[in-house]
Amino acid sequence: MQAWTTFGDGIAALRAVTVELPTPGPAEVLVRVRALSLNFRDLLVIEGVSGWRPSAPVIPISDAVGEVVATGDRVSRFAVGDRVLAAFLPRWRDGQLTAEVYTMPVGGPVNRGMLAEYVVVDEEEAVHAPVRLDDVRAATLPVAGVTAWHALSRTAPRTGETVLVHGTGGVALYAAQIAVALGARVIVTSSSDVKLQRVRDLGVSATINYRTDDVAARVRQLTDGAGADVVVETIGGSNLDVSLEALRIGGRIAFIGLIAGVKAEISTYLLVTKNATIHGIETGSRAMLEELVSFVDEQGLEPVIDSTYSWNDVPEALAHLKSGSHFGKVTVALASSSDGAGPA
Ligand SMILES: NC(=O)c1ccc[n+]([C@@H]2O[C@H](COP(=O)([O-])OP(=O)(O)OC[C@H]3O[C@@H](n4cnc5c(N)ncnc54)[C@H](OP(=O)(O)O)[C@@H]3O)[C@@H](O)[C@H]2O)c1
Repeated sequence: MQAWTTFGDGIAALRAVTVELPTPGPAEVLVRVRALSLNFRDLLVIEGVSGWRPSAPVIPISDAVGEVVATGDRVSRFAVGDRVLAAFLPRWRDGQLTAEVYTMPVGGPVNRGMLAEYVVVDEEEAVHAPVRLDDVRAATLPVAGVTAWHALSRTAPRTGETVLVHGTGGVALYAAQIAVALGARVIVTSSSDVKLQRVRDLGVSATINYRTDDVAARVRQLTDGAGADVVVETIGGSNLDVSLEALRIGGRIAFIGLIAGVKAEISTYLLVTKNATIHGIETGSRAMLEELVSFVDEQGLEPVIDSTYSWNDVPEALAHLKSGSHFGKVTVALASSSDGAGPA
């Protein structure tokens, strides 16, 4: 079968290779990959950024949907023909994240990813894909979707509360869509007025251009001086200060992003005087993925797809993600997928 591998030495150095078709063990399923979606984290692995650099060539990319084509003797959760997703943290099934299960993230640097024609998955690591979504949309759930779901589960916005979401990347748009579906009043920021125009179609209440506007001042203005009840912090770094300034006293922040770096100087004065709660968010468990699948099917939530590339154009797809010009998810469809292929 065909696969792409990386040594963490950049997009241009990705290698298309032919490798042995894996054989499922007794409790495993063999999955024919139909579509993948790309995440910011995939760039960290492929570009070998600090701890994300693989020490040996690895198949990258965390998010995919595929069809079960063979099952081991002991498999009971799935049958041939089922469409499945694999959890990003394979051992975190439910409950709190613990050191014991915080291991082997799919897509490198230590565990293989999904950028192959076939993958073998332990049946306990997989869930049924949403029935209402096509392949490329379904492929966006395990990382971006689950992270947004986890963020909103922990911060639990109530109907009518204000949720501020930074940017229009994959996690951010998921967070905006889920928060709208939960009945929150959602404010989204972007560097682009064109993207902000598109974001209004998702039912958000207000938008702010973070290049030309003072985000915190504008959020306070939009909330009669109070500030947002919840902030989904998808940027991170010193942007946390913007989130704290935009937050109401007693508000909650879901801290997700590493775009602005993994360390920052922030105002501890604001943290204290806002009496704020900050939840660090690490993707999510298999149970959260299952909850999200049900929510997506019940609500008819349609993940936003920026573009769909073919198998041979994976490097172009990653370069497009890196450019930051995307709106929603950058995806890859295999020839076997019902979604067709080629940039859209
Ligand atoms: N904690 C976790 O478990 C977890 C899981 C998934 C992702 N993440 C992290 O979450 C972050 C987002 O991931 P993603 O996959 O959604 O990324 P993405 O699709 O590449 O989105 C990035 C977007 O962020 C926006 N942005 C950049 N700088 C900004 C700023 N200063 N202020 C406001 N918006 C800004 C841009 O939006 P505009 O173009 O609209 O300006 C850009 O399109 C990454 O750091 C990723 O590593 C963490």
